[in-house]
Amino acid sequence: MEMEKVRLQKAISQAGVTSRRKAETMIAEGRVTVNGKTVTELGTKVASVDRIEVDGVPLTTEERVHILYYKPAGEISAVEDDRSRNTVTDAFKELDVRLYPVGRLDYDTSGILLLTNDGEFTQYMTHPKYKMRKTYRVKIDGILKREQQKEMRTGIMLDDGKTARAGLRVIRDKKDRQMILELTIHEGRNRQVRRMFEHFGLNVVKLTRIQYDFLNLNGLAEGEYRFLKPFEVKKLISNAKET
Ligand code: URA
Repeated sequence: MEMEKVRLQKAISQAGVTSRRKAETMIAEGRVTVNGKTVTELGTKVASVDRIEVDGVPLTTEERVHILYYKPAGEISAVEDDRSRNTVTDAFKELDVRLYPVGRLDYDTSGILLLTNDGEFTQYMTHPKYKMRKTYRVKIDGILKREQQKEMRTGIMLDDGKTARAGLRVIRDKKDRQMILELTIHEGRNRQVRRMFEHFGLNVVKLTRIQYDFLNLNGLAEGEYRFLKPFEVKKLISNAKET
């Protein structure tokens, strides 16, 4: 029996990575491989046995899974690590689906990490234009002075540009040498929170992402996870689109 073949761009859009139009651009840009070979020809037909990767990530026709994980410190947000440190995906081996972290948290950062096999969802959560808000609880050695708090709210110059407006609340101001604050940002630059405090010469000693848009860590202990409910996935995407 002849196996059904579809155009490559259709296969990519059906897998939920992106629209057919954008898939065409990705193909033309050389970001798509079929059975290990880069394909830039738009009309290429593929069958279900063909192994397709976009930016090195395999397409999946598996059911979409979205997970909220309370990442402990001491795990790396990658699928594999060349130094064989613990990775966040180790916790999900039993699930038998290929999950990818949505964005990343530093090795030493704990808190909300979303994981999914849904490429379209990942785009909505991580592309800067959607401005998803994330709140971090930050413990610092030292004191962030009132003036500096104001600066942090309005934007400070880091080596990759000025930060956008941010929310900042002081949670505990131990008159001795430490402070706990909550910082809400919608950018997701590398090590951004730590760098924002380093800007004032302050060292972050504990960092936890406690909120991701409307999601929080309620009901989860470190190292535990839960599946997002369909209404939560929908709400995250519609909140992303609203910005
Ligand atoms: N900002 C950081 O500095 N580290 C993280 O892990 C997340 C945000």
